[in-house]
Amino acid sequence: MAVTVNDRYRADNVPIAPKLVPPHNNFFMLSPEQQRDWLQDGYLVLPGFKAAADVTAASQRAAELVEAFQPATHTGVFSTRDRSRVADAALLASAEAVHCFFEEEAFDAQGQLCVEKNRAINKIGHALHDLDPVFDAFSHGPELAALALSLGLKRPQVWQSQLIFKQPRIGGEVGWHQDGSFFASDPPTVLTFWFALEDATLDNGCLWVHAGAQASPLRERYVCDSSPAGKRLQMQPMDTTPWPTMDQATPLPVPAGTLVVFGGNLPHCSAPNRSERSRLAYTLHATCDRARYSPLNWLQRSSALPVRGFARGTAK
Ligand code: FE2
Repeated sequence: MAVTVNDRYRADNVPIAPKLVPPHNNFFMLSPEQQRDWLQDGYLVLPGFKAAADVTAASQRAAELVEAFQPATHTGVFSTRDRSRVADAALLASAEAVHCFFEEEAFDAQGQLCVEKNRAINKIGHALHDLDPVFDAFSHGPELAALALSLGLKRPQVWQSQLIFKQPRIGGEVGWHQDGSFFASDPPTVLTFWFALEDATLDNGCLWVHAGAQASPLRERYVCDSSPAGKRLQMQPMDTTPWPTMDQATPLPVPAGTLVVFGGNLPHCSAPNRSERSRLAYTLHATCDRARYSPLNWLQRSSALPVRGFARGTAK
């Protein structure tokens, strides 16, 4: 029987300390240790990348967005296990909007919301960084621009932002995947910027990565096929390389304010949250504008909301 994330940490019963890289003052150039870790492991953990005040502002804004959300007008449920359920107009429309998506387990057998609204949201996406002033400020600035540059994104394009709630008790599992499946470009360039807005622990569903597998092939690709009948989103197989086993996985429990950054081919996952504590995170995905962004990617922008980089304001 396959070993799950939960089995792994229950069996070990001892937290495995991630490789914490001290924050480096000059983000225009990674330290030799950071460069080595990036090349060797395919990810960086940067504690304290965001100041406590910025984390608090983002968390408070997240709560305000949930408070303002009217569930009766939205029916989108986000599930990584049954991807056909996200192939709906709400997901496509969220490319240029700020939409809330429910936890799969927030509904009872009759389809009624069975938890409080502020405990029912799976995520909010996907244009917070361009449309919401608080997340615009959080998502742009010289530190992020310089970090992206130092990791090879010469002219970044920030396509997506997500608030991921990982709610207490019902926070869903996110199985092994590679973010490059969702942000194909030629050549592949996507980087994930994952910010902990709350402490991420082994109990509340921290990230797990397959360290060193940053060059492993892309197993699948999420494409948007357009036809006269409409748009259809589907995951297509690309490569038969098996997903890692949990014996190969490294957990990344990190304190709030930490930035974890990794490339599009690094397999990662997270466990369901059965604890009493939420695990709020915020993510950004960026590609390089020198690479050809695939027209088959589900997330596209119109001229009404052009994609931009990490610089504050509208200029790249
Ligand atoms: Fe991911």
